[in-house]
Amino acid sequence: MIHLTDQEFNDIVTYIKSNYGINLINKRQLIEARMYSVLVEKGLTNFTDYFNLIKQNNSQEVTAMLNKLTTNHTYFLREEAHFNFLKNVILPEQEKTNRMKNIRIWSAGCSSGEEAFTTIMVMMDYFGLRRSEWDYRILATDISEKVMQEARVGLYGKDSLKNVPETWLRRYFTKQGNDHYVLSEEVRKQVIFKRFNLMDPFLFQPFDLIFCRNVMIYFDQATRNALINKFYDVLKPGGYLFIGHSETIQRDSSKFVYIEPSVYQKG
Ligand SMILES: C[S@@+](CC[C@H](N)C(=O)[O-])C[C@H]1O[C@@H](n2cnc3c(N)ncnc32)[C@H](O)[C@@H]1O
Repeated sequence: MIHLTDQEFNDIVTYIKSNYGINLINKRQLIEARMYSVLVEKGLTNFTDYFNLIKQNNSQEVTAMLNKLTTNHTYFLREEAHFNFLKNVILPEQEKTNRMKNIRIWSAGCSSGEEAFTTIMVMMDYFGLRRSEWDYRILATDISEKVMQEARVGLYGKDSLKNVPETWLRRYFTKQGNDHYVLSEEVRKQVIFKRFNLMDPFLFQPFDLIFCRNVMIYFDQATRNALINKFYDVLKPGGYLFIGHSETIQRDSSKFVYIEPSVYQKG
């Protein structure tokens, strides 16, 4: 076992929080336990040398560490109420008001892509034969290039697919091996995956809908509030923000209008 000194621990907590928003203050033991094998693999004998590697702005190195300390876990149709809201409220609204038939969506903290691909399949089902009239590509971003590489391949196993109905498996997937399914090209090509750190400025065209679900759990309250205000600014008027069901937006810290649990609208 290689121990973390107080100095090393404080340094890395400060560095990660200011660059990635992630709060590691309660993860001292986890860092020691989970990063030990990485240090050994690299032939390092102390955390200072390892953190120096990270601070050289080596994005692969830092996301490898964050992947070990946080979770990328996700699955299709997670928190299904959001997809019902999309189908029952947002899409009918878009049909009435969106003359350009152009819907811009951002899956922020997309992990291996299940959230973005679920959205595409809901929209393909909803628009049916009219779908060629609509332009609704999704921008999906994450700090971890590794998980997004899995998304681009589109091969999923049992855990990811546990909520996927038979009709979707038949319509949008092809079976591969015993218990894996690969997503059709038609669905995959509608999602663009890009590495993006949510702490960076948002230089995007406005969105109609933003998903940022189960990402802010790692951030402290001040970081969450700042991020929520950035989402507000990059939404079109009337646009929606979905956050995780275990997350909330403090009512007096943002201009968002509360619609239902974990669904907010820009007024
Ligand atoms: C648990 S996954 C959430 C996946 C999906 N949104 C869901 O709800 O199932 C959290 C993701 O947030 C990403 N993440 C954490 N901090 C981030 C940051 N500062 N910028 C971008 N992505 C970040 C992680 O890499 C991880 O893939």
